[in-house]
Amino acid sequence: MRKLNLKGKHNSSAILIGRGILNQAGELCRAELSGRKLPSAICVVTDSNVAELYLKAVLEQLAIFEVPVYSHVIPAGEEFKNLDTVSKIYEDLSANRFGRDDMIVALGGGVTGDIAGFTAATYMRGIRHLVQIPTTLLAQVDSSVGGKTGVDLPLGKNLVGAFRQPDVVLIDPAVLDSLPEHIFTGGMAEVIKYGCIWDEEILDLAKKENGSAVDSKQEKEKLESLIARCVAIKIRVVEEDETEEGLRRILNFGHTIGHGLEKLADFTDLSHGEAVAMGMIAAAQMGESAGITEEGCYDRLKTLLQSYGLPTKLPYPVADIYQAMMADKKIQGGSIHFIFIENFGKTDTRKLSVEELRQMMKVLGD
Ligand code: GLY
Repeated sequence: MRKLNLKGKHNSSAILIGRGILNQAGELCRAELSGRKLPSAICVVTDSNVAELYLKAVLEQLAIFEVPVYSHVIPAGEEFKNLDTVSKIYEDLSANRFGRDDMIVALGGGVTGDIAGFTAATYMRGIRHLVQIPTTLLAQVDSSVGGKTGVDLPLGKNLVGAFRQPDVVLIDPAVLDSLPEHIFTGGMAEVIKYGCIWDEEILDLAKKENGSAVDSKQEKEKLESLIARCVAIKIRVVEEDETEEGLRRILNFGHTIGHGLEKLADFTDLSHGEAVAMGMIAAAQMGESAGITEEGCYDRLKTLLQSYGLPTKLPYPVADIYQAMMADKKIQGGSIHFIFIENFGKTDTRKLSVEELRQMMKVLGD
């Protein structure tokens, strides 16, 4: 098992990575919380898909705390990442007399982690303990680490949220074995993003050999170290800029156009990873055309994304995508920090007015 630490301004996360650690979840969490005030109740928030697979095992694990352990199952899907869902959790917590010293465990993908994290950050002005157990590749390499939590509004993604570092993140790559292929590949888009913005070697490691990326013992070990490598990058970035005033923006490579695409797809027809894949390829094309990105990046990125079956062709008219992007919370005072890559491993952030952005997007087609 690998152990990494993220030191946040208000609290720090112990990030544990290892195949099979879900089966020691209780013991590991308790060890990480030792010396602190322990919870007197625990609520596991999970979604209807993940509940069937792992809820029973996690509840059994948490029995080690010898306090009441509840679960709250939310419907699966980004379309439920909203304040209604959070409100139902608040009601459940208050009905079970949850207090500030208690613990929320987020068991699931990015949506569950964001919702449960937001609940932990806001219920009673923030409860003491938050544990993230991410069950998708995307959540393991990105959303469970770094403390961003939140929900969507009809106008756009993550428009309400809070920063709340989890106390413990338990990353068990074995749970990825049960993931449907398209969910796994959605996570690969975020892995490839780290190769684009920080560490070119990740692109070589992510290169798909024949067949599935995780079908042999060697491939499983490779995946675990790939996850750890991505998490280590995320830690470095977040420790330098926890609240996204500078460096952390680079994690949004591919996300500005990606969020617009997700909105146009009503948060249902496209996964986050698929949208980010198309957003990255669009940013590479715009960057090459403007002389910001070295020639050849677009082709290499496209080949890699396509090898995972990730989409690279925009499914909506560019004018519609631009309109959908205008709801992005990152647009401030009519301009946005748009992330380009200069080459693999090196970003170039440009502050663009929305009109400059619209002009640059013309290269993407009509
Ligand atoms: N998912 C991007 C970030 O955590 O900043």
